[in-house]
Amino acid sequence: MTRRPHDRVTARAPAKVNLCLAVGPLREDGFHELQTVFHAVGLFDELDVERAPALTLTVTGEGASEVPTDSTNLAARAVAALAAATGQDPGVALTLRKGIPVAGGMAGGSADAAAALVACDALWGTGLGRDELSDVAAQLGSDVPFSLHGGTALGTGRGERLTPVLGQGEFSWVLALADGGLSTPDVYGELDRQRATGPVGVALDPSGVLAALRSGDPVLLGRALCNDLQEPALALRPALRLLLDAGSEHGALGAVVSGSGPTCAFLCRDTAAAVALAAVLSGLGVCRTVRRADGPVPGARVVSTS
Ligand code: C5P
Repeated sequence: MTRRPHDRVTARAPAKVNLCLAVGPLREDGFHELQTVFHAVGLFDELDVERAPALTLTVTGEGASEVPTDSTNLAARAVAALAAATGQDPGVALTLRKGIPVAGGMAGGSADAAAALVACDALWGTGLGRDELSDVAAQLGSDVPFSLHGGTALGTGRGERLTPVLGQGEFSWVLALADGGLSTPDVYGELDRQRATGPVGVALDPSGVLAALRSGDPVLLGRALCNDLQEPALALRPALRLLLDAGSEHGALGAVVSGSGPTCAFLCRDTAAAVALAAVLSGLGVCRTVRRADGPVPGARVVSTS
């Protein structure tokens, strides 16, 4: 259903943490079969789009200098993919304000792509449904469909097939981004290496996290957090162990490497506990950034049009 086009649109999309990341076998296409519980948290990237003679991108905010501004940027790729799918002219000026830590394993790039999809859909009045946008999103990256979807969802396939998760309650998180990056393919590769050379690792199972979400009890959820990529991430960055231990010692109900890291996610009893833990973790001096956020929050949304 086409809609009235706009001259300028602003959209925003949230960061994610993985409450459980169960990694199955390596597929022939180079991806692993996953069962993961995605959870959108209240840290957002915001994107303005307006018509322009050519596709351009300007990035501001923390870590902006690390974000590519050429055609490899996931938001630019999203514009090009949606333009190709709908027959629109991809000439738009993108202005991106980063609120999600860059290169932290919190799906900031995927959030930017999702924001670009909903923003350009509104700008051009193409009126694609969520399913059609999700198909374009899945071509861009495994996490992009979830950045559109938001909330809490079970991801299967390579992470792009989503089922909403029934749950209750709001959860208070501290997200600590350790110094130094981790490459996602390297972390998956280390898992394959560990599985090939060590005792055969049994993939985790998200049922404990799903039960905890149904109960809404943060204590149960804290105990159930799990990630098959945690051991490989710790093998590549042993200092993350100290960060996880510090969180647990200072009141976190659960501590887990999020995705392929290096962000560590700490679940807290309430906002006051999260504020206190964020102060302790900042004081350790080993983090690039420490943020506090609640979840779940909605996925990519248009916030203003003109
Ligand atoms: O889809 P995305 O671009 O986020 O994936 C980045 C890399 O992470 C892939 O190239 C692959 O090495 C790894 N990956 C994987 N299995 C998945 C998702 C990602 O091995 N299900």
